[in-house]
Amino acid sequence: MATTVYGGDEINAIILDAGSYTTRIGYAGDDFPKVIASSYYGELQGDDDNNNTPRKIFGEAINVPRPNLEIKPLLKESLIVDWDAALELYQYYFDQLKITQPDQPILVTEPIWGEASYREKLVESFFEKFDFAGLYLAKSPTCVSFQQGRPNCLVVDIGHDSVSVTPVIDGICLLKSSMKTNYGGRFLSNEIQDYLEQKEVVVEPSFKIKSKTPTKYPDPAKFETKDISTTQSFVDYQKQKIYHQFKEILEVPEKNTTKESPRLFELPTGQSIVFDRFKIADSIFDPAVYKFNNEKLAFPPCNGKIDIDQANEYRPLKRVRKDDSNQSTPAPEVDIRGLTQLITHTLSTIDIDLRASLANNIIVTGGVSLVSQLTDRLYLELSNNNPGLKIRLHAVGNSSERINQAWIGGSVLASLGTFHQMWVTKEEYKEAGVDRILNQRFR
Ligand SMILES: Nc1ncnc2c1ncn2[C@@H]1O[C@H](COP(=O)(O)OP(=O)(O)OP(=O)(O)O)[C@@H](O)[C@H]1O
Ligand SMILES: [Mg+2]
Repeated sequence: MATTVYGGDEINAIILDAGSYTTRIGYAGDDFPKVIASSYYGELQGDDDNNNTPRKIFGEAINVPRPNLEIKPLLKESLIVDWDAALELYQYYFDQLKITQPDQPILVTEPIWGEASYREKLVESFFEKFDFAGLYLAKSPTCVSFQQGRPNCLVVDIGHDSVSVTPVIDGICLLKSSMKTNYGGRFLSNEIQDYLEQKEVVVEPSFKIKSKTPTKYPDPAKFETKDISTTQSFVDYQKQKIYHQFKEILEVPEKNTTKESPRLFELPTGQSIVFDRFKIADSIFDPAVYKFNNEKLAFPPCNGKIDIDQANEYRPLKRVRKDDSNQSTPAPEVDIRGLTQLITHTLSTIDIDLRASLANNIIVTGGVSLVSQLTDRLYLELSNNNPGLKIRLHAVGNSSERINQAWIGGSVLASLGTFHQMWVTKEEYKEAGVDRILNQRFR
């Protein structure tokens, strides 16, 4: 192995956690990322005859309405889908932070479901587009486990595009037992949109409102709009922010309750609507419970299985078994798994020797995990569904820590004294090739 040019504590590593909703960038050893930015970017179409090439814009500027500004996502299900824009956005923030790449290595978090070809592209892009002193890919659940100082745990990440459950043993993710659905933050946003559409409530983002008079549903909204020309994608992006505010006041009900929890929500048009905050949040646990009116907003059934083609599945050495005969009877096949079922199913598929310890160390993280009463309902359901197991949930109390937990874990991981051996340099990458780097260094 090539000798590394940087020694131990002096390294000022960069941590990048790119989520479907939020991108976080900052320095290892810090408590919080320096940059917490949208994972969307703007594309400004050429507006005169001399300048027809689209220009990408990042940061707060994407919230300024313009007639020729399209808003586009960088990622889908935690995987980069627009590579040029994503790499440009990272460079934009690296410049803002005045990062001198050749002096600093970078740790990038990745979801567990990236296919081999995706991971190759990720590694190649980072080595080719940037000039960092070293690179490390860390799986998000591993980072979360480090943030909590729990090398053996079950990480439940309720994020924007995905809800995932990943067993972590000795800091390493057990990919084959992991599960993922799409019943996370975007699903809730679609429900809220559908719910408002059904009620024929007019949703207009604040930038469009010139004046308003408070009204209460079912009285129609009374407002005047500004004459601003924008693209549909810009308006949709701004509406997502309204749905986000709506999500922040949701509350998870008890199972099968008939109770309601009415709450007033004021839209930017000045119209207030009373809605039952239980109804929408319930679908985190029972995704089939909400019936979409608008088919375009509905999500296909998803039972959580993931096809992962990453080689070298890690198995804890002492615990390798001849076959899987010790596993509990597999649960019957279902089409849709809500949160509790997803976790219960994962627990049922892992080695019986590990099961009790993981059940005792369930880490709940991700933006949607902040919905009120979510952990209480989860605890009750998991305890009822798994009578033989002692369930313990761990959810960081501070909401900014919870929402940035994978980034913070990366920060902890990269500042460990022993971590300096983990960085892969450009020379090593060139010598060994991307396959070997992926299989041997970034498992
Ligand atoms: N307090 C809150 N209550 C309810 N939902 C919230 C809250 N805060 C954030 N969210 C929702 O959580 C989601 C973002 O979660 P998070 O930041 O974990 O996602 P991410 O890391 O960007 O995406 P990924 O799913 O790729 O990991 C968004 O849908 C957002 O609206
Ligand atoms: Mg995330």
